[in-house]
Amino acid sequence: MPRDNKTPLIQKIAKQAYITFKDLKSSANGDNKIVAEKLGELISLVTSIRAADLKIAPKKTKASAGVAGVQSAPVTYMHICETEVCSMGVFLLRPGASIPLHDHPGMNGMLKVLYGKVSVRCFDKLDNNLTLSTMPPHFDPPVAPLQMSSVWRAMLRSVAEYSEVSGPCLLTPLRDNLHQIDAVDGPAAFLDILAPPYDPDEGRDCHYYKVLQTVGTREETESKGSKEEEGEKKEKEEEAWLLEIPQPENFWCGGEPYPGPAVSI
Ligand SMILES: [Fe+2]
Repeated sequence: MPRDNKTPLIQKIAKQAYITFKDLKSSANGDNKIVAEKLGELISLVTSIRAADLKIAPKKTKASAGVAGVQSAPVTYMHICETEVCSMGVFLLRPGASIPLHDHPGMNGMLKVLYGKVSVRCFDKLDNNLTLSTMPPHFDPPVAPLQMSSVWRAMLRSVAEYSEVSGPCLLTPLRDNLHQIDAVDGPAAFLDILAPPYDPDEGRDCHYYKVLQTVGTREETESKGSKEEEGEKKEKEEEAWLLEIPQPENFWCGGEPYPGPAVSI
């Protein structure tokens, strides 16, 4: 048997993510077919990973409630690895926790649920933000003139639920780039791959948004027939206005050690 069978799955994923996104980065004049094949292999590997592969499991609810009045973080992050090509880690959401609507400028991403269930709402910014001529007659809440440069037209692309048996949720620089992630019916955890990683010095800082109001609906509800166990994916295509906001006060992300197999790229 090939010795590769002894390589932990998460190590295979890290290596495949590295070669896939390294190629994607330089594929402007490269071979898109090869990149697509590598991405397909990565999706296949990511689809098969489970919480046990990373030695993680849902925490007992009482143990995660905090100690002596110190409120524990609603979300924690386990760092696995990072290179200039991609970063990889696990987000753990307490019951009822939410990662607010945020973006991934110029980045690709892959989210795979390890346990529990999450609801993911994906948006994309449209080409122009708010100007006096495009401003709708009334916002609720109203937008002060100084905030106008922080208001963006956007499109709600999809709303979908993911569990451990679902395939990964994907994002690209142009598609499903903004998302909000809510834990559904208890705690949840997901593997998160970003390529390239956030880097404010390179213009890849994380921004948070609030949906001011929806504008109109071009609703198309799609049922993914072959993936009924994953739940229905609703392609809503609903236009909205988003206001860029500071990181919400009720959201912060703690850190905790990653207990799974060592990974090196
Ligand atoms: Fe994200």
